[in-house]
Amino acid sequence: MRKFKLSLTPLIVLSVFSFNVFSQSNNGWRASTQTIEKLTKEKPEINYYEEKVSTYPLPDLLTTINGKKITNSSQWEKVRRPEILELFRENVHGRVPKTSYQQSFKVVNFDKNAMGGLATLKEVDITITAESKSLVIHLILFTPNKVQKPVPTFLLINNRGLTNMDPTRVNKSDFWPAEQAIARGYGMAVFNNADVDPDNFDGFKNGIHGLLDKNTRTGDSWGTIAAWAWGASRCLDYLVTDNDVAGKKVAVVGHSRGGKTALWTSAEDTRFAMAISSCSGNVGSSIARRHYGETIRKTNAGFPHWFCTNLKKFNDNENALPVDMHSLLALTAPRAIYISCADEDLWADPRGSYLALYHAAPVFRLFGKKADIQEAMPPLNKQVIRGNVGFHIRNGVHNMTLEDWNRYMDFADVVLKPDWK
Ligand code: GCU
Repeated sequence: MRKFKLSLTPLIVLSVFSFNVFSQSNNGWRASTQTIEKLTKEKPEINYYEEKVSTYPLPDLLTTINGKKITNSSQWEKVRRPEILELFRENVHGRVPKTSYQQSFKVVNFDKNAMGGLATLKEVDITITAESKSLVIHLILFTPNKVQKPVPTFLLINNRGLTNMDPTRVNKSDFWPAEQAIARGYGMAVFNNADVDPDNFDGFKNGIHGLLDKNTRTGDSWGTIAAWAWGASRCLDYLVTDNDVAGKKVAVVGHSRGGKTALWTSAEDTRFAMAISSCSGNVGSSIARRHYGETIRKTNAGFPHWFCTNLKKFNDNENALPVDMHSLLALTAPRAIYISCADEDLWADPRGSYLALYHAAPVFRLFGKKADIQEAMPPLNKQVIRGNVGFHIRNGVHNMTLEDWNRYMDFADVVLKPDWK
């Protein structure tokens, strides 16, 4: 018998992902029984069974509060989008106070030969001053030296500590893979969310709340996630002034609580060209009404500072919320949106995230953007890109990995169309 010797090398370098052309059919992703059983054992009070998700009516994105049908993009932008944005401010994230402040930028470190000559590094202190108090957001930015034009840039809201954003590159991290982005011709920016507001509940005394909250707090006063989102916008204020950055091609990126923040950033600040949300789950990218995995009650209990206190009205009362997370995703339309999930991260309800995207898609289509994703979930590790909407579910646990970033860059290659390509 003849024997064939197979070399495995070429297979190993192939990504486990395949690109977007495939038929989304009934071989779509499903949570594994093993994962469901394991997680149920750990938290028996949480539902991880799809069969136990009851039917829920979703707020209709294309009908106004007064019952008028939205049939075109201009009605969406003039009437329905502002309505939904207000509903989120009132019930979910709260409102940014109108206190005036001054802002200044100072490049405190500049290195034309960062990353062995491949990139230019700028470290920028963004100082916010209100009355006698001030706060500094430290922004780190790498741009590729091989590109002679302003580059599309990712801005990460970093919720995982300083080792993930080392400007010296002694510590490299897949959570913010700056080298890989530079190699693909993108700018890579990051700030530490704690610069804007430390991630703890202290009655909103610290961080930017300590500077801008002048009046007594009310049910719709901003929470910490809204503060981080505001901080991302201050970073964009700098990025649009930087000649190495294509200011109209900046994507805001975040994981988990940072992913919830990225979505709200893009909703509040339409200067961002793209929102990328990794494993953001409850009050992020997942439909809250599904009551699958983390619930609004759990989020409010564990993290009472993240959202406005009005959100507590919807503890175990999701159906009363006048929006759901498809509404949040729709606020990014017609700009680009990308949602990623992880197979074992049922706490964040991957299916709920995909469905939110599916139900947001009609708003993207109002603008003539393709966004014709199907209701059935794609299989594991198969990327979907349809117009300005993208999605994947990766194997593995709750995290944002290099594999995720590679897919974000594939999406950006298509929708932000870097000029140098
Ligand atoms: C907790 C929380 C999630 C959040 C996550 C994170 O698990 O319940 O809502 O997304 O922390 O930010 O890592």
